[in-house]
Amino acid sequence: MPLWLEGRSGLAGLAAGDVLTATPVYPPFLTAPGHMGRKLRRIDLVEKEGLWQWDWQALEKEAPHSRLLLLCHPHNPVGRCWQDEELEKLAVLAEQHDWIVCSDEIHCDLILDEGKQHRPFARLGEKAAQRSITLMAPSKTFNVPGLACAFAVIPDAGLRRRFQAAMAGIVPHPNTLGLVACEAAFRHGAGWHQKLIKVLRSNRDRVEQAVAALPGLRMAHVEATYLAWIDARGLGVDDPEKHFEAHGLGLSDGAAFGAPGWVRLNFGCPAATLKEALARLEKAC
Ligand SMILES: Cc1ncc(COP(=O)(O)O)c(C=O)c1O
Repeated sequence: MPLWLEGRSGLAGLAAGDVLTATPVYPPFLTAPGHMGRKLRRIDLVEKEGLWQWDWQALEKEAPHSRLLLLCHPHNPVGRCWQDEELEKLAVLAEQHDWIVCSDEIHCDLILDEGKQHRPFARLGEKAAQRSITLMAPSKTFNVPGLACAFAVIPDAGLRRRFQAAMAGIVPHPNTLGLVACEAAFRHGAGWHQKLIKVLRSNRDRVEQAVAALPGLRMAHVEATYLAWIDARGLGVDDPEKHFEAHGLGLSDGAAFGAPGWVRLNFGCPAATLKEALARLEKAC
């Protein structure tokens, strides 16, 4: 790390090392390490038995060279709600290789599968907590990203100080509207949240059924989030995002997530909007 960067970010004392993440993933995970002069190491998630899973062998290979794991939990775009067994394996690797685990849990209140629960990485135990940075915000669940209010939970005081120093002058302070909206959402939003989950569950089921019936498209089961990660490589078109756009559908291009040929559909919308979107999807296929 260049000296000026150490001085500016306050990261002196933090051993240099690479940043590890699992792809496909929310695009800033792929670009943020480079902004801090760190090398990104990526392993691919693998689809097995209809669910996206960790490739433990690939992870173990990259583990010794990494200093920080950027974990997306639940995972955008594949919609996994990582389960205890998977999180515990990650915690063991974190301990073995002395990682800091930055767990982005912004989608944690959007668990759609009944019987599944979100368990924060930091709740795995004291050791995991001490090496964790948990990122959260009301913006996804309560649709208030424009109010720009997010927070980090960092139990270790030293790590917390380094995080604050690294943010200084780069990350803006939350504004009053955002803070008030955040408090209102978390204090009073439970009833609305329950209704939201019902709508998202039903939308998720409709998307999964529609995609299963369409030639050239496929997707795994979505346990969490309002995102469907769709493999469009079977369509035989050069640029699926452009192809769907020409049919009146604005999907995210999988290339930005590290997976060209895939698209991401956001089903966080009213049922009528989704109905129209699925009709266009069918036409486009
Ligand atoms: C995993 C993840 N982290 C962070 C963000 C950013 O959230 P916000 O829109 O509140 O800035 C997003 C937005 O899509 C996201 O999916």
